[in-house]
Amino acid sequence: MEQRTLRQGANSLRGGGVPNSLFAQLREQSALCESQSQDSTDYMRFKEAIYHKTGIDLNLYKQQQMQRRLYNMVERAGLKTFDEYFALINSDENELFSFLDRMTINVSELFRNPEKWHEVRNFILPSLLKERSSLRMWSAGCSYGAEPYTLAVLLDQISSGIRYTLHATDLDRKILAKARDGYFTTTDVKGVAAPLLSKYFLTLDRAKELQSNPTVPTYQVRPEIRNRVSFQQHNLLADRFDRDYDLICCRNVVIYFTEEAKERLYLQFVQSLRMGGYLFVGGTERILNYAEIGLESPYPFFYRRIR
Ligand SMILES: C[S@@+](CC[C@H](N)C(=O)[O-])C[C@H]1O[C@@H](n2cnc3c(N)ncnc32)[C@H](O)[C@@H]1O
Repeated sequence: MEQRTLRQGANSLRGGGVPNSLFAQLREQSALCESQSQDSTDYMRFKEAIYHKTGIDLNLYKQQQMQRRLYNMVERAGLKTFDEYFALINSDENELFSFLDRMTINVSELFRNPEKWHEVRNFILPSLLKERSSLRMWSAGCSYGAEPYTLAVLLDQISSGIRYTLHATDLDRKILAKARDGYFTTTDVKGVAAPLLSKYFLTLDRAKELQSNPTVPTYQVRPEIRNRVSFQQHNLLADRFDRDYDLICCRNVVIYFTEEAKERLYLQFVQSLRMGGYLFVGGTERILNYAEIGLESPYPFFYRRIR
């Protein structure tokens, strides 16, 4: 509608002695609107097709951010439209995996925001252990495992005899395979204190490979810690949630979701926590209506279920 108005406007103005520069400007705007609307219908078809193929609903992710990221993939594949890109994904499983791998951002770090992990170690875990002798924990959107392994290290530090289950889930199967191996680069471990690094990580002999590629992993979580975490594929926006958790970590995941998706997710997390259980969120995240949905906030970025 807007396109037609602009184009009609440009045409009718043309005959009326309008300066050439204004006419050119109107024509440019009209062309821009047309290409944007073609893009959006192309992208709408793509979202629909991806939903049918994978169950991932791209409507629940922030539109502009996601569309831009995905369009970069279209261009990297040497293509022009989302239709062409879907045809590629649909016919080549490797391309599908690489799409899934890149549609989300997997950035993470061991002991990310160390002051918050200090609170987990000194306040959250001891308070939970006073109430239950065996804990159930979930790292939701765990990426390549830095978050659940950080938690497992802290639990071992408190006492190697603590009984617990630690589930770690992510949408991205490829990143989960990496998480299970528990390899980390020198950058990943920069927040790990030296005594913890030597106690819980093996140093791999990779000096030669490192010379040609500085991002080669040089550490691996020791099997005693690795075996404490169970990794599983799970879509936070579509799959069923388990219940009775003492602690749920969901950090730096919802930043990509729409407001509605976030609200629904927080309600589901509340249902998944046992009474008195904690939800631990990312350093830029807040649950504004926490009291309304049955939570209290005893420390910044920690919410506790109270009803
Ligand atoms: C930036 S990483 C956060 C990793 C870790 N929680 C941290 O704070 O360091 C975000 C992760 O969320 C995952 N993710 C995105 N959408 C998801 C969804 N719908 N369900 C489950 N995981 C999702 C991505 O695959 C990615 O590994």
